[in-house]
Amino acid sequence: MKKSRISLSMSRIRPIGMSDRNPAENVAEEYYDSRDADAFYARIWGGEDIHIGLYEPGLSIYQASRKTVEKMAALLGPPHGDSKVLDLGAGYGGAARFLAREYGCEVTCLNLSDIQNQRNRQLSKAQGLEHKIHIVHGSFESIPDENASYDIVWSQDAFLHSGRKLKVLQEVARVLKPGGELVFTDPMQSEDCPADVLQPVYDRLQLDSLGSISFYRQQLSALGFTERNLISLPHQLRTHYFQVGERLKQSYRDLVSDVSQAYLDKMIVGLDNWVSAADAGYLAWGILHYQKAL
Ligand SMILES: C[S@@+](CC[C@H](N)C(=O)[O-])C[C@H]1O[C@@H](n2cnc3c(N)ncnc32)[C@H](O)[C@@H]1O
Repeated sequence: MKKSRISLSMSRIRPIGMSDRNPAENVAEEYYDSRDADAFYARIWGGEDIHIGLYEPGLSIYQASRKTVEKMAALLGPPHGDSKVLDLGAGYGGAARFLAREYGCEVTCLNLSDIQNQRNRQLSKAQGLEHKIHIVHGSFESIPDENASYDIVWSQDAFLHSGRKLKVLQEVARVLKPGGELVFTDPMQSEDCPADVLQPVYDRLQLDSLGSISFYRQQLSALGFTERNLISLPHQLRTHYFQVGERLKQSYRDLVSDVSQAYLDKMIVGLDNWVSAADAGYLAWGILHYQKAL
């Protein structure tokens, strides 16, 4: 009896950072917490990553996705063992485990998907890294940390889900220490993308906007960041979504035992729309690396 009263009162506590929600946060949470999305991403990417890969001939989606993590880490210098890293929209925590294992970093994974956080906990424990990786349920639009808490903020293909991208960048600026670094990737729209052509692209993930390289450049400069590296790789976005679409079509019969047919069919159309938009020159993607003023 006593136990049930305690759990009832705990359930009423609103987690830090979950107040003042934007509708896009609810959309992203519901999407990534669905059984369909979890089974699809875990099986197509191999369970570590859910982001665009760096393709070379012969590389699988899993291998190319690992390359993106390696490349981003190399830009950082590489990170020191005592670096405190915050991964925003951390998915299954593949990047966090890489940084913890290869460099000894302490990584906080902030992510609003419980189902992904559970998988992240299991994988981190199975790989003996749970003491280095802190998994927090929350939104990057309201980061539940003190000012100047981190040496590095890391994010891969997650900011696209925000309806308040400037707020996300302000939060990044707040939690980074002076001189701290931000490295991230994001699927974006190209600079000369016409208005009103991206709705089919938004539809796959129920997005309401995409950022652009100039958006991030201008806003980060206004927040006092210096650009360290800007590696524009739109062809990798095209290759990646094409590869994911091909893999899906090849393994459709197998996937359909775990993922609903409606989800898979919608995904095939959605991926084709991303490839077509990339072919039309409407999309951008790359690795962006900034340093906060000292
Ligand atoms: C495409 S996945 C990328 C996952 C991970 N970064 C990776 O590269 O494997 C997008 C991630 O962003 C997370 N996400 C979306 N909106 C978020 C928000 N407002 N706050 C925190 N995480 C968010 C999702 O839960 C998901 O894990």
